[in-house]
Amino acid sequence: MTDDNHVILQNETTKTSCELPVLSGTIGPDVIDIRTLSQKTGMFTYDPGFTSTASCSSTITYIDGDQGVLLYRGYPIEQLAEKCDFLEVCYLLLKSELPTGREMQGFVKEVTYHTMVHDQLTNFYKGFRRDAHPMATIVAVVGALSAFYHHELDIRCPIDRNLSAIRLIAKMPTIVAMSHRYSTGMPFMYPQNRLGYVENFMHMMHATPCEDYVQNPVLVRAMDRIMILHADHEQNASTSTVRLAGSSGANPYACITSGIACLWGAAHGGANEAVLRMLEEIGDKSKIGEFIKRAKDKNDPFRLMGFGHRVYKNHDPRAKLMRNTCHEVLTELGLHDDPLFELALELERIALEDDYFIEKKLYPNVDFYSGIVMRALGIPTVMFTAIFAMARSVGWIAHWDEMISDKEQKIGRPRQLYKGPAKRDVIAISGR
Ligand code: SDX
Repeated sequence: MTDDNHVILQNETTKTSCELPVLSGTIGPDVIDIRTLSQKTGMFTYDPGFTSTASCSSTITYIDGDQGVLLYRGYPIEQLAEKCDFLEVCYLLLKSELPTGREMQGFVKEVTYHTMVHDQLTNFYKGFRRDAHPMATIVAVVGALSAFYHHELDIRCPIDRNLSAIRLIAKMPTIVAMSHRYSTGMPFMYPQNRLGYVENFMHMMHATPCEDYVQNPVLVRAMDRIMILHADHEQNASTSTVRLAGSSGANPYACITSGIACLWGAAHGGANEAVLRMLEEIGDKSKIGEFIKRAKDKNDPFRLMGFGHRVYKNHDPRAKLMRNTCHEVLTELGLHDDPLFELALELERIALEDDYFIEKKLYPNVDFYSGIVMRALGIPTVMFTAIFAMARSVGWIAHWDEMISDKEQKIGRPRQLYKGPAKRDVIAISGR
């Protein structure tokens, strides 16, 4: 920011004005620093849903919604998805730089030796019905983690913060796989230190104690790429929830739990599950027109799940990478004519030619194809959002750590536009 970079706010009613500084980032839009606005004008800004509000400064992820650009620590998502694996991206998001070979070896070892959970955690699952939604069990179990690490929760201690980050990244696959195994009545599978991070997750999800579980490297790589695409996404709803929870000084496990809870909503991370159910409800290409019509009808609450985005007003770069991954997996499995994939491709084609979607700049987002590929990888639909939470945990913890270290941050406490009753006196019930 140059010193003279500022805006003047003119109040035509009171004929007063105030000067507000303009701050510039490395790339992307400038921001108007309104921290003194209330003190200078006695007024608040009003921005439900934070459509025009920057809640913090961050160095982690950059999105250009008009250009369809997504950068993790400056690296384009397309290059990371092609040249890195998920744990490399975890290292990048947590430590700002891609690891050297030696650094990666150390990081993999550190994560690997934290993949087991305390054996008493398995008791938490037994309290649930077998048909409990996995997100319900995961919220409970991750929230309980802080009860097992009393002495390493000092959020001001970088060593404790790093250990919490490693534990969460390491244990999420184990916890998510356990939630699936519990729902199927299959025994929990212990993590295997000889396996890679994603291979280990697939093993805990699908293997049985009775025989070796042989994995297809193409499918493991596809799952790894799905996790890279979901790892972080700037100040989305769940990340903002984690930041707000963390601003009160809550422990990292409680903060990540708040992010998991927020992600569950169908407008956010729950969309991948909703897309599959929508495609199954559409069922046939001949019915696409009927659903497109419903999506455009203001009186119909139905929305085309997997379409639209608050930031991307051009294509979501992740959607294109996910579509390619989908094609790769279905081809590998000999399912290239998978009817659901064909239906999704046709739905995308029709929607992208429709004036409503063009005018409102509604494009497929990361969730539109992710469900189809996860289904092909043998992941039950009800587990899709849990997979999203597993991948996004690294983004949440990276933002939490950045927020704790940010000297500008203080407890988040927004104000409001009050529209309730003005002051009035209570009349005793005898008089009412
Ligand atoms: C994720 O923020 C992130 O980064 C999230 C995420 C991440 O990685 O963390 O990218 C992950 O959450 C992706 C989004 C997944 N959700 C869905 O696919 C659900 C369907 N999409 C919508 O609910 C919606 O598009 C949102 C929630 C994604 C965005 O909502 P906005 O930005 O608040 O936009 P809006 O609701 O104000 O919509 C603008 C207009 C509205 O019409 P008008 O009131 O202007 O007439 O577009 C319409 C909406 O009705 N619209 C849709 C639509 N999405 C928006 N109409 C039909 N179908 C849709 N999918």
